[in-house]
Amino acid sequence: MKIQESDLDLKGKRVLITGAASGIGASMAKTFFDHNAAPILADRDSVKLERIATEVTGSQTIVFDQSEKASIENMCAEAQNPDILLNNAGVLWAGPFDEMPSDEITKIVNVNLIGPMQIAHNIGKQMLKRGSGIIVNTSSQLAFHGAAERAVYASTKAGIAQFTKSLAAEWAPKGVRVVAIAPGRTLTNINAGLLNSEEKRRTALKDIPAGRLAEAHEMARLALLLSSDVLSYIVGETIISDGGYVLL
Ligand SMILES: NC(=O)c1ccc[n+]([C@@H]2O[C@H](COP(=O)([O-])OP(=O)(O)OC[C@H]3O[C@@H](n4cnc5c(N)ncnc54)[C@H](O)[C@@H]3O)[C@@H](O)[C@H]2O)c1
Repeated sequence: MKIQESDLDLKGKRVLITGAASGIGASMAKTFFDHNAAPILADRDSVKLERIATEVTGSQTIVFDQSEKASIENMCAEAQNPDILLNNAGVLWAGPFDEMPSDEITKIVNVNLIGPMQIAHNIGKQMLKRGSGIIVNTSSQLAFHGAAERAVYASTKAGIAQFTKSLAAEWAPKGVRVVAIAPGRTLTNINAGLLNSEEKRRTALKDIPAGRLAEAHEMARLALLLSSDVLSYIVGETIISDGGYVLL
């Protein structure tokens, strides 16, 4: 059966995107807008958020902090019944675990795992009332194989993958489809410091058979397909897009 253009037309769909001020989230905002959705852009960075909003005409913006429960609750109340949630904002801490300040452990878990769970809890309840909705969480390739100097980050992303599967089992019968994307190394601000020299880029590429890093729009398109009827039977899966990454 041919995929029709209308299968990817999200006209009338309200899409809440967290982490929309930068990188993958900003690309999601533009991609979903290009497919006629009405994006609601949420991020802690108000300056960058307004910059993206000028490119995504008519979008609603909400400044919030994903590490604060009250801020999350306000954001979810303001977003008002989105049809699709792209639960995407996250932070990376890279370095030896024994040198990681203990407050950073709490912060990374709060932002990357507890925050997205609270958002899904709030927005999901709105969706359940309506009997329909789609949640696309952002995990990471590291959820599946871990990595030195990323112990806490990889653990939060593995948590997101299992949260996705378990929540999908609970909510699919009630009309809410939960899935996740697992990006490989993607050129965004989150890893800019790790890719800021030729040598570091070469090291980053040596275990990627595709021979290049991903572009943010490749992750945004994956999220779009997962949110559309094209991939409507994918439930609870975390889809890896990593250029064939192999641990050498
Ligand atoms: N870039 C990669 O290589 C890669 C790989 C795997 C997974 N990911 C995941 O993709 C997601 C998007 O990351 P990105 O690569 O676009 O990075 P990015 O740094 O460009 O974007 C992250 C966005 O999240 C926002 N954010 C961070 N903490 C927040 C908080 N407490 N409250 C609200 N907003 C907050 C930032 O302001 C920023 O706009 C993250 O969950 C990240 O873990 C990225």
